[in-house]
Amino acid sequence: LARFNTPSKNMPPPSSSSSANTIPTQPVTFSQIGDLSGLDLTELQAKVSNCKACGLCQGRTNTVFGEGNPHADLMFIGEGPGADEDIQGRPFVGKAGQLLDKMIGAMQFSREEVYIANIVKCRPPRNRTPEPEEAETCLPYLKRQIELIQPVCIVTLGATPLRDLLGVTGIIRNRGKWLDYQGIAVMPTFHPSYLLRLENAKREAWQDLQQVMKRFDKDPSQTRRQRPQR
Ligand code: URA
Repeated sequence: LARFNTPSKNMPPPSSSSSANTIPTQPVTFSQIGDLSGLDLTELQAKVSNCKACGLCQGRTNTVFGEGNPHADLMFIGEGPGADEDIQGRPFVGKAGQLLDKMIGAMQFSREEVYIANIVKCRPPRNRTPEPEEAETCLPYLKRQIELIQPVCIVTLGATPLRDLLGVTGIIRNRGKWLDYQGIAVMPTFHPSYLLRLENAKREAWQDLQQVMKRFDKDPSQTRRQRPQR
């Protein structure tokens, strides 16, 4: 936790003789995000990479802006970067990302065709759920991304994007039900990390994804069944 504390002004600077367990921290001045309405995706990404609007900036290696087709019809929104994403600066590149790639493939899309983003752009410590205040602070970036990309449909992954983008609580009771975000159809489903832990929930997630496929006139019976991996 020490890395996320902002030292008070009166605190002496960390000295070289400080104990090996003390991680020196630089004071961080949190800044407001400001008006994003004139920014395109490239400008927005540059702004995110310098962002110090909340404490998550102190623990990051890289910001994870999001990636994919800037004109995507289909967008996926996760929670926030994990360790692999923090190192690579790209969303969903770890184990959960491999499963997300399979989900996208099963929907008869490619990763390059869709756009993938997260609620928060910096890794929360120990992969904890972003605090509502962190999500609220970061949300203008995602909202501007959605505004620029203008997807036809958004798939939210897990409870956090449901909570923070739509203000809806409870993934178990809300998954599989069409919702609306500013005229865009939203399908909430389980997060791939959850599916990795709870194999049985994959059947429900597949039902949710099939609903999305039908919106795109894709025939789920044409998806080849993948062999379960050992
Ligand atoms: N989990 C998320 O929610 N987002 C990522 O980018 C990776 C894992």
